[in-house]
Amino acid sequence: MKIDEYKRRGSSIRRKPNESMKAIVTIAVGIVFGFYIGVSFPAFAPSKIFVSTNPRGAERLPPAIIASESDFYPRRLYGRPNEDLTLKPKYLVTFTVGYNQKENIDQTVKKFSDNFTILLFHYDGRTTEWDEFEWSKRAIHISVPKQTKWWYAKRFLHPDIIAPYEYIFIWDEDLGVENFDAEEYIKLVRKHKLEISQPGLDPSSKGLTWQMTMRREDLEVHKEAEEKPGWCNDRHLPPCAAFVEIMAPVFSREAWRCVWHLIQNDLVHGWGLDFALRKCIEPAYERIGVVDAQWIVHLGIPSLGNQGNEENGKTPGVRDRCKNEWKMFQERVANAEKDYYKSVGVGSMDHEANWVTPDRIQ
Ligand SMILES: *[C@@H]1O[C@H](CO)[C@@H](O)[C@H](O)[C@H]1NC(C)=O
Repeated sequence: MKIDEYKRRGSSIRRKPNESMKAIVTIAVGIVFGFYIGVSFPAFAPSKIFVSTNPRGAERLPPAIIASESDFYPRRLYGRPNEDLTLKPKYLVTFTVGYNQKENIDQTVKKFSDNFTILLFHYDGRTTEWDEFEWSKRAIHISVPKQTKWWYAKRFLHPDIIAPYEYIFIWDEDLGVENFDAEEYIKLVRKHKLEISQPGLDPSSKGLTWQMTMRREDLEVHKEAEEKPGWCNDRHLPPCAAFVEIMAPVFSREAWRCVWHLIQNDLVHGWGLDFALRKCIEPAYERIGVVDAQWIVHLGIPSLGNQGNEENGKTPGVRDRCKNEWKMFQERVANAEKDYYKSVGVGSMDHEANWVTPDRIQ
């Protein structure tokens, strides 16, 4: 039948667009599937691990195994590791000590609660003697003869090692702490959002140099001070603001991560560091301050400077080196900034109006 045949043909003709549609769909699915396979199983699958976002030097490790941070928590030698730690102190306090100052350090340590890990840097090689104090048994002792606080800090307080600690106190051994409590201090630091701070120095302190670090009786915290005429062309800069001294600084974890990098390996006395701390904080004049309500007395007992000195009085050369280091550090910072701004093609954005000239150093 012609008509039937026609119909069949017609239908077969009409089926044609369907078939080409099928073909297009098939090809499209094939492309998508092929792409998916290609993405899932790349032709050049690495036979070795190399993860460029891993910490420098650890690129060959699978990221999940990397332990990039540590702590000072002592552990047991037995049992399950996850049951080792009953206490994880949140704060760290370090003292650079000689055994002769044991009475004062004992008094000072008692002002720090169990929430602190206590770390002693011994510059006189005497460590076991300290075990007469109960707290000494849970303290960390690091002994290297005749080094300075900043030498130890650079070598043993890397930010990745002390990462669990929210605040880090890096203190001298000759501080009177009768009117100081560390937990109360941290409350105030938190309240006033201080990234770098120190307790106010009682006016009876030895060798008071700066107005900024002197205790104010009527305040909880202060962040600026008046200095001698001409010393602070910019009142937001040290020594009138954005400034604490190096004898009893307290750093937030974040601030320390920057400050550690600022400490130079060879400039062991840290002079001048106090003037540069602000470079780690923005805005420094609001985040660096002195806590008046928890204050200390700088006893000014000459100690490390006398190590190995036969005569009484100051070790010849130490003070000269301090001053010299200050000058060198100041120059390094200034040159580094100059080089940086030159490399990005702009003039210096910062200025050192208030940097102290050698004639102002006592
Ligand atoms: C230790 O820290 C905890 C949590 O912040 C606090 O509740 C406790 O009072 C602190 N311990 C002391 C002795 O202040």
